[in-house]
Order: sequence, then structure tokens, then C-alpha cells
Amino acid sequence: MGSLASIILAAGQGTRMKSALPKVLHAVCGRPMVTWSVANARALGADPVALVVGHGAERVRETLGDEVLYVTQAEQLGTGHAVLQAKEALEGRADTVLVLYGDMPTLRPETLQRMVETHRTRRPAITMLTVDSQDSMGFGPVVRDGEGRVRAIVEEAAATPEILALTELNCGVYCFDAAWLWRHLPLIRPTPPKNEYYLTDVAELAVAGTQAIETVTITDVAEVQGINTRVHLARSEHILRARVAEGLMLDGVTIVDPATTYIDPAVSVGRDTVIHPNTHLLGETVIGADCAVGPNTIVRDTKIGDRCTIVASVLEGATVDDGVEIGPFAHLRPGAHLGEGVHMGNFGEVKNAYLAPGTKMGHFSYVGDAELGPDVNVGAGSITCNYDGVRKHRTEVGAGAFIGSGTLLVAPVRVGAHAKTGAGSVVTHDVPDNTLAYGVPARPKRTLQESGQGGEE
Ligand code: UD1
Ligand code: MG
Repeated sequence: MGSLASIILAAGQGTRMKSALPKVLHAVCGRPMVTWSVANARALGADPVALVVGHGAERVRETLGDEVLYVTQAEQLGTGHAVLQAKEALEGRADTVLVLYGDMPTLRPETLQRMVETHRTRRPAITMLTVDSQDSMGFGPVVRDGEGRVRAIVEEAAATPEILALTELNCGVYCFDAAWLWRHLPLIRPTPPKNEYYLTDVAELAVAGTQAIETVTITDVAEVQGINTRVHLARSEHILRARVAEGLMLDGVTIVDPATTYIDPAVSVGRDTVIHPNTHLLGETVIGADCAVGPNTIVRDTKIGDRCTIVASVLEGATVDDGVEIGPFAHLRPGAHLGEGVHMGNFGEVKNAYLAPGTKMGHFSYVGDAELGPDVNVGAGSITCNYDGVRKHRTEVGAGAFIGSGTLLVAPVRVGAHAKTGAGSVVTHDVPDNTLAYGVPARPKRTLQESGQGGEE
């Protein structure tokens, strides 16, 4: 097995996007477009991965950081010129060079794997990806001789009607024998009228030197959807989303309506979970088995256990253990952690707080910067007043406590185990265990054990 390097071309301006953002940074399925190509190169074990940048180079660098090796193409003089810019950085570092585009995120890693394997088995100068398509898509037709050998790649603009009738098209993705490429690429001459250096001209150099050109041909044009406009952007988004959804369905997840379900590629979902329409599962979300999620739910970077039900809610940066019910209209914010069997009903918000197993907050409550013990009952409209305008303070509620409707817990404050607060009480001081406190401000009135109210249910 030889070593593989990759060059991703991403220096073009992307004028037709009509955007202040460099084209390759526009998001597809929740990630910058170019990162799909980077991930493809990495999946094949390519190292280094060189990214040819030009327009918007600074922003591309800021976004990708040191994930890739940057090669600058100051002037966009064509695809051949772009690849040549990587010569210095890559020569001698790998025996095979894979060239990809930063604006073709739908290419399947399996297809590239096939290309690399073909290249390694047959050892030609070039292995190129072609697509069989009646629609030319602006791609250059591939001309073969009587024996089926590739003779040339003709740019669509320069093609005769006879050549335009050919249905095998160059996708612009190649594996090169590195030593051969670095020797021949500098020989390319600019093509008028734009005087661009066409990478496709290396095919002629190979033919002239009787070097072999192998091809891998695909029929699914969706794989080579390039992005030049926002119409293409939406098309690529659709293709990738459908692929993510299909992968999950084949793994045992029910997606009631894939057309209105938006799942990012890194999301994982367990078996027999049902995803209802208009649900967005984003970022690094992990969902367990036997859950029902949606309709109308957004989940971002959240871990959800098994057997949970989540309806019409927004969850961000949260952790939800097994058997939890959420919604409708609940909001979990970063650091929210709902323990096993927690019930969180309508219009609740939890932020940076742990609700231990069996705790219930059914209606109109806010719990922030808090720790609630097991089996606490949070009455309707109760609020942790965690912010004094300057700093955040913590609230603690002990096991089995009963927070009466409309209680304001003015943090820092602790409500003891099996304590109760009366409806509408404003709790400014700690309430001991097994004690009832009520009023404004709330005062402990009696211990529940003395009065015979056990507090345990
Ligand atoms: C290229 C191929 C064509 C193929 C098609 C498939 C050439 C001459 N033609 O044409 O045969 O069918 O791709 O998509 O190679 N880029 C740079 N620097 C440059 C020029 C381009 O980085 O100086 C980048 C662009 O940002 C883009 C990619 O290379 O990501 C392709 O360039 P583009 O001008 O779109 O080439 P095509 O005309 O599509
Ligand atoms: Mg193009």
C-alpha cells in the first residue's frame, strides 16, 4: 500500500453565490461545504490534505484551522495552475495524489475508495472519475478511441456537436501517480481565450506519452452535483439529507416524513425510535432506542437516552436520561440534565441544572443553576430566581420536596428534603428538611413530621 495525499481545489470566487461569505464556507447539512471534501479525503487516509485557497482565504483558514495544509493560489489561472501550487508542499510526500473540489460535497467516500483501489491495482498515470449522463451539466466530455482508451477530455465550450453528443463526462476528480503528475503538470500551456491552465490537459500529455488512463464511471449524477449558485446549494443539501435519513432508516429508525426531517450527519439514533415531521436533529446529537421525537422539535448537541418522548420542544446542549417525557413547548438549555423518568411538561425551561430521577415539573416553570433531588414536585409557575443582576446563584432542592405553585426560590437558597413551600411563597432563606414554609417572604412554620404531614408520597 502506497501513501496518499489529497489536493482540494477551493480558490474560485463563487461569484454566482452573490455572497459576502466565501462559497466553500456556505453550510451544507450543517457543516461548511468544503469540510465534506476534507472528510472524504481523510476517510481514505489521505495525508496531507492540501487545500488550495484564494478568494476569501483568510476566512477559510479561520474556519478550518489547522485541519488542513493551506496552499495559496493568488490568481485563479485555472484548475491546472491550482494543482501546481501544491507541488512544493506535496512533492515526495505521497505516491498517489487525489484531486477533489471544495464545492462537490455529495461525492460518496465509497466512490473515491473505488478510484483509489483501481489506481493502486492498475497503476496508471491517471485514474479519473466519469459520469454517464444525458445532461452535460457543463462537464467536459471524455473522448475514447476505437479500443476504448481515453484520448482526451474536451471542455464543453470547445466541443464540436459530435463530441457534445458523448454521454461520458469528466467529473474533475482524479487520482494521479504523484511522480508522473509533478513531472508533467508544469508542461501544461494556457488555453485561449481566457488563457487558463486546464488540469484536463494532462490527459493529452498522458496519451502523448502512451501512459495509461483508467476510469471509474458512476451513473448517479447526484454524487457530482457541483455548487455554483444557491439553487445548487439547496440541491446538495437535499441529496445529503436524504442520504443521512436513509442510512438511519436502514439501521432501524422510523422517519415518518423524511422530506420534513432535518438530521445532521454526525447524529446517531437508536433502533425503533420514531422521528415525527418537522424535527431537526443537529450537531453531535445522540438519541437512544424506542424514543418518539417530534413533531416540531429541535435538538442540538444533546444526548437523549432510551424510551424518551419529546414533543414540540427545543433542546440544546442538554442530557436526558432514560424514560423522560418532555413537552409540549419545553426548552432545555446548555447544562440541563434530566434524570431517569423525569417529567417536564409544557412551557418549562431548564438551564445548567440537574433534575434527579422521578422529578416532575409539569407547567410553566424555570429551573436554572439548580440541583433538584429525586421525586421533587415542582408546582406550576415556580421559578428559581438565579440572577441578581450581577451574578448567578444556585438553588438546591432536597429529595421528595414539594414546591407549591408559583413559588419563587430566591437563590442562593436550599429547600430541604421532604420540605414543602406554600403556593405563591417567596423563599429567601433556606427551608430545613421536613418543614413547611409559606408566605412573603416565606418562613418555616412547622415541621411536617410534628404536624403529621409526612411529605413522602
Ligand atoms: C472542470 C473541468 C471539467 C469538468 C468539471 C467538473 C477543467 C479545465 N475542467 O471544469 O472538465 O467536467 O470541472 O466539475 O479542469 N479552481 C481553483 N482555482 C482556479 C480554477 C478553479 O481553485 O484557478 C477550483 C474552483 O474553485 C472549483 C474547481 O476548481 O472548485 C473547478 O473549477 P471550475 O472553474 O468550476 O471548473 P469547471 O469549468 O467546472
Ligand atoms: Mg465548475
